[in-house]
Amino acid sequence: MSSNKESWGSRLGLVLAMAGNAVGFGNFLRFPVQAIQNGGGAFIVPYLVCFLLLGLPLLFVEWSMGRFGGQYGDHSTPFIFDRMGKSAIWKYIGVSGIFINIGVAAYYCYLESWTLGYLWYSVTGEFSGQTADGVNAVFTNYVGLSGNIPWVFWILCLAINTWILSRGLEGGVEVAAKVGMPLLIIFGIFLAIRALTITAGSDGAINDGLVGANFLWKPDFSTIWTPKVWLAAAGQIFFTLSVGWGMIHAYAAYIKPNDDVVLNSLSAGWTNEFVEVVLGASIVIPISVGYLGIDRVVELTQSGGLGLGFRTMPYLFQQWGTVLATLAGVAWFGLLFFAGITSSLAMGTPWMGFMRDEFNWSRNKTALSFAAIVFLLGLPTVVFYNQGVFDEFDYWVGTVGLVLAGLFEIILFSWVFGIEKGWAEIIRGADIRLPVFFKYVLKYVTPVIIILVFIGSLPDIYDNLVHKTLYEKIAKATNPTEIATLQTQMSYLNWSRMLLLGVFLGICYLVFLANKKRLKQNG
Ligand code: ALA
Repeated sequence: MSSNKESWGSRLGLVLAMAGNAVGFGNFLRFPVQAIQNGGGAFIVPYLVCFLLLGLPLLFVEWSMGRFGGQYGDHSTPFIFDRMGKSAIWKYIGVSGIFINIGVAAYYCYLESWTLGYLWYSVTGEFSGQTADGVNAVFTNYVGLSGNIPWVFWILCLAINTWILSRGLEGGVEVAAKVGMPLLIIFGIFLAIRALTITAGSDGAINDGLVGANFLWKPDFSTIWTPKVWLAAAGQIFFTLSVGWGMIHAYAAYIKPNDDVVLNSLSAGWTNEFVEVVLGASIVIPISVGYLGIDRVVELTQSGGLGLGFRTMPYLFQQWGTVLATLAGVAWFGLLFFAGITSSLAMGTPWMGFMRDEFNWSRNKTALSFAAIVFLLGLPTVVFYNQGVFDEFDYWVGTVGLVLAGLFEIILFSWVFGIEKGWAEIIRGADIRLPVFFKYVLKYVTPVIIILVFIGSLPDIYDNLVHKTLYEKIAKATNPTEIATLQTQMSYLNWSRMLLLGVFLGICYLVFLANKKRLKQNG
């Protein structure tokens, strides 16, 4: 019999933890870049449509699936799916709910540790008086693992996660959310006000902060029917709302059988949207457009969101004078740290729930094992960061994995478990009436959108699978050393895929063992 009998301490704590789960790097680093890369105002309409027809429905599904499993003592996706599905295969499909979180946590916790390192640099004045190239060099050295700082903060970050997870939901995760979320919002409001009040011609700015905000908010319908924009919007919704991951199942499995899931999921979901669309959009874009102009910012985002957050922002803060630059650095990296940790704790919860339910592991042992796995799996993303292993994990696990898991989940809920039973699960104990319209959305619209997103992504998935870009670079390269470097890079990427596959199969094996144990116990 499992000793995993936790519960949330309060409704506020639950909603803050769920909001913290959703609010993460996706809101502050990924969203601005997706918005800029996809035409600013052109991105917002598909994004909001995907929020309403994909994000919200999946939130209702995941909260109710988690609460459903929790009634039977199942606190992670494999056996929640098993109970709802009618075939043995569902528990293996549900492995995604543990695998995705471990796979993403491997690089997410490393990124989280950068925020601690950069917080330290901001306080100790590392960026003070630096040129843009100087700040750039700090980043290059950091990811090149020069010196002890990256290692120290990575280990420290894993230790903090382990300690909080080992204290359980009420004494650990909930406390972290109650401290972290308000601070994050205060830091965010401070930075957003500073960003939106940037004035062209003062402190070296070339545009008003509002130019960047307008870029995002001025609707542009010219590219609205471009599939790429829709795919990006749907991908962002999966990432930012934490749907398709399995961590919402795990958190919701600890709520009481008749507690509301409708109002709670809406509260957490809308909090995430406020933080993303209001705060997330009002910091990086207005500041960088204010100093660099739209064209340069568009160019900078071609290499992803991390550059803007870690190379550009600390340099731009320096234009505000030492005191304000230090405060802005602390607010920015502090905000990112709280955003990150409240999400990485959620990533640890499915593993915690699974090992405690199935193998009766103690909280300490499970939390330590989570950190050990994340460390070992994270090592290739850290050591071979420049070879693209970090991005490879992000693509297969944090992008393709989420869409596939979301697709299976909605099929299970609406078509296998059945929409009538599913709808009854959602509205049981609800504190507000959910329009019946959503029942039809859940049955038809959401699955169709996910299928379209998946089909639309197939060419990109294929190109990535066969390393199209790398082969093109090799074909163009003339220098033998460059060709050899690209070929080595390809082999690192292939090894990292094997590693991820190995982890997936390893979790399948654990589920197999757990199932055997359950069958034996049930005679
Ligand atoms: N939803 C979390 C984020 O946006 C994982 O980073």
